[in-house]
Amino acid sequence: MPRAYGIIGWPLGHTMSPALHNWGFAELGLDARYEAWPLEPEDLPAFMERVRTEPIHGLSVTIPHKRAVMAHLDRISDRALAIGAVNTVHWDGDTLCGENTDVIGVVAPLRSLDPLPRSAMVLGAGGAARAAVAGFLELGIPRVAVSNRTQSKGEGLAADFGVACVPWDERMDGGWELVCNTTPLGMSGDMQELTPWDADRFEDGAVAYDIVYNPLETRFLAEAGAAGCRTVSGLEMFLHQGLAQFRLWTGRDMDEAGARRLLLAALR
Ligand code: ATR
Repeated sequence: MPRAYGIIGWPLGHTMSPALHNWGFAELGLDARYEAWPLEPEDLPAFMERVRTEPIHGLSVTIPHKRAVMAHLDRISDRALAIGAVNTVHWDGDTLCGENTDVIGVVAPLRSLDPLPRSAMVLGAGGAARAAVAGFLELGIPRVAVSNRTQSKGEGLAADFGVACVPWDERMDGGWELVCNTTPLGMSGDMQELTPWDADRFEDGAVAYDIVYNPLETRFLAEAGAAGCRTVSGLEMFLHQGLAQFRLWTGRDMDEAGARRLLLAALR
């Protein structure tokens, strides 16, 4: 029997995770299989029992289970505790553990930047914004702030992490060296023509980072690139959160360049 892995979520829309992990298993010759498991919230407790008994060797966890799953684990990483969400379940011996590789994924594409941006503006206040703020603080960026359309929600996030919350109308003032979009503005569909940033408001030499990966080049990234900024696509975060999951599950590294080619082909 191949080792079982999979993703739980509800509703579970299209996800590139099965393609990514099954490619990694095949490439390394591992006898394992990654499935998509749509799971309603009321079925989570029974499912987590199955994880222990079958056993299931690892899980990706998505909406709406990222917080609820924590009650069913033996150990939760400091990183996942800090953001209040688990996106990865893995075993450490007999201990069922929770981690948040979104935080790892969000910072991985920035680690090679030299010098590191000295300031970061995170747009939005959902789960991805929490991962971005936690990641940028972990990376050591000295000045991190958030801005959100709904000010109270932005303030809540900012208070949790001890960062500033800038009113939405003032988000572009502040000389930000890194701007990270975690809102759906620019996403394919009704939002595709939208952007959270004015084309003429990018700082010289700034880095524009979009968590959106469909389309690969959002209007935000296209305009940042045209203004001479470095750009990081949301594909990089998706890729790196997945690489980190794979490492926790198998102790092995998936080939990064090959995995990127696979995801690019899936998105084009
Ligand atoms: P996720 O958990 O994936 O980050 P989310 O919780 O739905 O997603 O968060 C989406 C974020 O994008 C929210 O901060 C939302 O702002 P509100 O708190 O005001 O709802 C923001 N967002 C969504 N649509 C937006 C829009 N049209 N303009 C600006 N911000 C928007």
